[in-house]
Amino acid sequence: MKIVVIGGTGLIGSKLVQKLREQGQEVVAASPSSGVNSITGEGLANALKGASVAVDVTNSPSWEDAAVMKFFDTSTRNLLGYEAAAGVGHHIALSVVGTDRMLESGFFRAKLVQENLIKASSIPYSIVRATQFFEFAKSIADFSTEGNTVRMPPVLFQPMAAEDVAGAVDRIVMGPPVNGTVEIGGPEQFRLDELIRRYLAATEDPRQVISDPHARYYGIAVSERMLVPDDGARRGETRFEDWLSQAMKQAPKATLQPK
Ligand SMILES: NC(=O)c1ccc[n+]([C@@H]2O[C@H](COP(=O)([O-])OP(=O)(O)OC[C@H]3O[C@@H](n4cnc5c(N)ncnc54)[C@H](OP(=O)(O)O)[C@@H]3O)[C@@H](O)[C@H]2O)c1
Repeated sequence: MKIVVIGGTGLIGSKLVQKLREQGQEVVAASPSSGVNSITGEGLANALKGASVAVDVTNSPSWEDAAVMKFFDTSTRNLLGYEAAAGVGHHIALSVVGTDRMLESGFFRAKLVQENLIKASSIPYSIVRATQFFEFAKSIADFSTEGNTVRMPPVLFQPMAAEDVAGAVDRIVMGPPVNGTVEIGGPEQFRLDELIRRYLAATEDPRQVISDPHARYYGIAVSERMLVPDDGARRGETRFEDWLSQAMKQAPKATLQPK
């Protein structure tokens, strides 16, 4: 089976490509650096020739409202058009749990446009909505930092390891199209403020986390269950503390701390 992973050099894409290759699949890791560009269309026809499955794990280089909308709209239309022409039988895209609840954000408005284009296309599909990756804990803190403080709302949060996201997408690649949306999340629920506090303490980051019900998450007003999946969601196995101790062994503390 030939599988094309668009965004195959990214955080999730590179892990997915490795897993698929370990199973002996023929995989194309497609990205601008390998001459495949979902915005311009460059290299897409060739990459998708003879492919059974296409996985879209791209992300926009800019998260500015207009730029991110242009990215996901153009990229998704191009991918679906070239995939239809190549006879691809399964389009898989990675999205985010709660996308339709966070439309205050331009990023999530763009992800919803991506999802809706996929649902409206003729290609059998699976949309995988994942919760936030553990790997983004620092970025979440950075976004809400003022001076030495990080204001965080104490809402429920169920993040997961990027490795488990790739594992879940891998299983979807190997199965039939769902023609719907699958939710995946981490094995444990936390309070967002508590998780960020634990992350900063473990990485010896001096910033203080202030719990504030009115604080925003990436600039969005969030409520108790907005970031967590429904009860039926598939769960990753990796616990936060295990991921954190592994990450600390692999990366010097300085790279986990703010610049
Ligand atoms: N962050 C979270 O917590 C979270 C949670 C749930 C879902 N997601 C979703 O997961 C997806 C993947 O995220 P990620 O963190 O793995 O992304 P990432 O590490 O930023 O990787 C993005 C990938 O997209 C590629 N790309 C960028 N522009 C492209 C273009 N014009 N044509 C083809 N490829 C292009 C990049 O290629 P180059 O390396 O060549 O630039 C790279 O391979 C995103 O759609 C995101 O919305 C994220």
